[in-house]
Amino acid sequence: MTSFDIPKWYDLHTHFRQGEVLSAYIKAHLDMGCAGALAMPNTKPPTAAIFEANEGKYWSIERYRRDLLNAGADKFGELIIPLYLTKDTSINMIQSGAKSGHLKACKYYPPHGTTGAEFGAPLSEYIENGVLKAMEDEGVILCIHGEQHALGPDKYFDRNTNAEELFYQEDMPQLRDKFPNLKIVCEHITTKIAVDFVEESNANIVATITPQHLLYTIGDLIQGLKYHLYCLPVLKHCEDRAALQKAATSTQNTKFFAGTDSAPHAVKATECGCAAGCFTGGIAPQLYAMSFELAGLDLANASSQEIFKNFLCLNGANFYNLPIPQETFTLVKQPSKLEPLQTPNGEIIPLPLGLGLKTLPWSIKL
Ligand code: NCD
Ligand code: ZN
Repeated sequence: MTSFDIPKWYDLHTHFRQGEVLSAYIKAHLDMGCAGALAMPNTKPPTAAIFEANEGKYWSIERYRRDLLNAGADKFGELIIPLYLTKDTSINMIQSGAKSGHLKACKYYPPHGTTGAEFGAPLSEYIENGVLKAMEDEGVILCIHGEQHALGPDKYFDRNTNAEELFYQEDMPQLRDKFPNLKIVCEHITTKIAVDFVEESNANIVATITPQHLLYTIGDLIQGLKYHLYCLPVLKHCEDRAALQKAATSTQNTKFFAGTDSAPHAVKATECGCAAGCFTGGIAPQLYAMSFELAGLDLANASSQEIFKNFLCLNGANFYNLPIPQETFTLVKQPSKLEPLQTPNGEIIPLPLGLGLKTLPWSIKL
């Protein structure tokens, strides 16, 4: 039976939400071998202030960190909370936040681009008001949701183009040229065009890839309208998935790493639409292992295990300057049962269970 040990890992893009559900979501991450996480700031209200003393209409990183630590995140070695960029983000906030040690990263949401993105301002505002320059000068990382906003349906998702491709063709090259020293994480990339952009950029520009974008395509979503697969950016085509798989599983890979975008929704489908976000807490290493196999790697081989370790455990930690944990966990090619996660807000359905799978081919042992 195939089984291998790797260091505990950091999920460098996840959503833990807020309130009484926090501890269940954090526990699911601890249970899948996480030694830390980057907890996205699309809380309600958004985490768009740094210090508790300056909260006003937004939550602060200080407060959200305390809530997370109290709910079990104290068991993580590392916890990063990016600042949600809004029209109220100032140069002074970036400078004082960076000096205080509370501010390591900022998150750009395209206005109304996804769940909880309604406080985002257009990227051009942060170019003009000096916020991105201040981030570049202070070494604050930009986590970017790379999709053009306010597009009509024909450009948002068409046979020839989509919001992500337009963003990486029209907006990102400009950003890279204007701020050559800004460290950027292209979050949850879904297209070959985004992969190519990251590969042809210097070491300051890297990307996270989710399990669902490595495993599935838009065909999986629309055949039977499997709404548990609905997340943003939406799944793309076979050629895009192949480019993502190739990037993640290359022996040379230093730029692409795990960020699950695990995004729990107690109510997924409603009468007039569907909440964007797939829940993969508790099972992400197993899903990433499945995706490596789908890409043609045999995880019984030591060389494939090394590539997997680079993607899951090393590349992201190196980019964020996090220590590689001494503690390890074990991936075993042994079926594990899928169960809904019980929370005070009701059951959360893990993505594969929502697709009708009852078991996964991999298990983990801590
Ligand atoms: C995320 C969520 O639910 O918070 N949804 C998603 O589809 N990924 C928001 C996000 O990061 O896009
Ligand atoms: Zn996200």
